[in-house]
Amino acid sequence: MQVRDTTRVLQAVPQSTRLSELSLSELTETIEGLSAVPTLQQVMDWFSSLAIRQRDYEAYRYFSDNKYARNLVVRGDFAEMLLLCWKQGQRTPIHDHGGSIGVVLVCEGMMTETMFDRAPEGHVRPHNTYRRGPGVVTGADVPDIHQLLNLEQDGRDLVTLHCYAPPLSVLNTYSQHSSRVRHWRELYFSGGAGI
Ligand SMILES: [Fe+2]
Repeated sequence: MQVRDTTRVLQAVPQSTRLSELSLSELTETIEGLSAVPTLQQVMDWFSSLAIRQRDYEAYRYFSDNKYARNLVVRGDFAEMLLLCWKQGQRTPIHDHGGSIGVVLVCEGMMTETMFDRAPEGHVRPHNTYRRGPGVVTGADVPDIHQLLNLEQDGRDLVTLHCYAPPLSVLNTYSQHSSRVRHWRELYFSGGAGI
């Protein structure tokens, strides 16, 4: 199954359609060795080729009671990769990626993603919501505005692998009730920064 949204999210690809397998450590080395910012399609292809099991990312699989945890796997000059761990009810603000592309692979649980448009007055309004299960890869292009959530009612955790290129700096956050755009600098949970 391939889903082509009407939004700028390019596609959602089940991992089972991968042609060749790439390990997490191989992808980590690839990101470290980049000499230019990869395209959205390149990163989508990497993630669609990943053969990944929980034991491969166990070293980064940390949760927080306060908010979803952002665990750094690798940060190079041109891209970074993180494992995000979400308890039930945890969510991002409504945001864009401040000039970076972003690709997500759902590792465990169900991810809810809501896409937003900017209204002429400046606030945002939702136009599509998706539930993405394990193995699904989605990509967000530079101007996309979205929110990711663990909305599962059964207490199930959500674990997602993310690649941003170039690495995230300052994100823009939006509101459905205000035209004000705020700026948000994300920190890492692992790597000494805390969240
Ligand atoms: Fe995002």
